[in-house]
Amino acid sequence: MTTAPQWTEAMRLDHPSMDTMNQQLMDLLARAHAADDAQLPQAWADLVAHTALHFGQEDRWMRETAHGHSDTHVMAHRVVLNLLREGLMQARAGDLAPVRRMARELGAWFSRHTQSCDAPLALHLRSHAIH
Ligand SMILES: [Fe+2]
Ligand SMILES: [Fe+2]
Repeated sequence: MTTAPQWTEAMRLDHPSMDTMNQQLMDLLARAHAADDAQLPQAWADLVAHTALHFGQEDRWMRETAHGHSDTHVMAHRVVLNLLREGLMQARAGDLAPVRRMARELGAWFSRHTQSCDAPLALHLRSHAIH
């Protein structure tokens, strides 16, 4: 029995676009976490589609504003998105176990990601008047 992933105020960055995307990601993750076996592949596909746009937007901001320390952030996005996509292929092939495990673990990872990677980016974007 694990607690469902949930967005919390502690994750708020006071950056409207990033906060919206981070909340959406946690909502989609919660939906995947609650999905039954029949619903899970589609719920995971929705999460992957959102995450590709979400991480892509942050990567673009980092490129466009020459954000320092962006290498580890971009790399973290790439690694996780690859894992999510790999899980989707496995789920579509009938193996739901990897995606179930990720649905349990990704919330804690993402919470750390918002603190260590997204928070400094939010600060940087605000200084460039990007909201
Ligand atoms: Fe984010
Ligand atoms: Fe990020």
